[in-house]
Amino acid sequence: MRLQGKTAVITGGTSGIGKATALRFAKEGANVIVWARNKEKGEAFIADAKAQGLNMTFMPVDVSNFSDVEAAAAKVKDMGGCDVLINNAGITNDSTLKKMTPEIWQSVIDINLTGTFNCVKCLSPMMLEKGWGRIVNVSSVVGLYGNFGQTNYVATKAGIIGMTKTLGRELGRKGVTVNAVAPGFIATDMVAKMPKEVLDCMIAKVPVGRLGTPEDIAAMFVFLASDESAYVNGATFSVDGGMTV
Ligand SMILES: NC(=O)c1ccc[n+]([C@@H]2O[C@H](COP(=O)([O-])OP(=O)(O)OC[C@H]3O[C@@H](n4cnc5c(N)ncnc54)[C@H](O)[C@@H]3O)[C@@H](O)[C@H]2O)c1
Repeated sequence: MRLQGKTAVITGGTSGIGKATALRFAKEGANVIVWARNKEKGEAFIADAKAQGLNMTFMPVDVSNFSDVEAAAAKVKDMGGCDVLINNAGITNDSTLKKMTPEIWQSVIDINLTGTFNCVKCLSPMMLEKGWGRIVNVSSVVGLYGNFGQTNYVATKAGIIGMTKTLGRELGRKGVTVNAVAPGFIATDMVAKMPKEVLDCMIAKVPVGRLGTPEDIAAMFVFLASDESAYVNGATFSVDGGMTV
């Protein structure tokens, strides 16, 4: 029970890495608040979790919409405030530079980068008031190394690393640490969209010889969200089976 008594907001917490994190955090004793766009999916997930005896709440939120995030943050404050934020919501919308329209570019910036800013902006004041908080942003292996056909996505994931360093400097002295996790290739819907031959090629580059699981990432989030990570701040951690060694 490493997160007993902590309230954690997990964005994009109804699928993939976010869902595994919501389940793990609830099992670690956290009061979990899931923010995601799809109300029906969110409510079904929470009902299922509650049936397993887990403590979870769902709020329909589009992280790219500042007013939406502000309104949901006010509800979180009424519930006693937020201790931990996992900025996990993210999308891809891939194409080569030649085919990438300004709309394709902007769609990914709005959710991955502005969405991360919106959530930190609206939830960090509650952590600062308590003098304790943990913010974990989700970058990617491609944010460190680049990737063909992902100018927009890579710009957001590299931007998140810079944002994390800056926020770590601004908030760290007030008891709120900010770190990022850069997952490698994790077996979720996002990766399932990739052609099999591309996936096989990727697995061949992973020293541990497999794709990661959402639970592999959730385990790192637990450490970064806990009291144990008090002296870890502004850092980005690769959780990628050694892909980037
Ligand atoms: N799967 C991977 O291999 C991988 C690798 C590196 C980084 N990541 C990052 O991990 C995070 C989770 O990815 P995943 O693989 O679990 O993907 P996923 O598609 O399963 O989950 C993403 C979640 O974000 C939610 N979301 C999207 N737009 C949103 C919005 N505007 N407001 C609120 N919620 C929104 C989706 O509904 C979904 O629940 C993302 O930030 C992704 O970029 C994933």
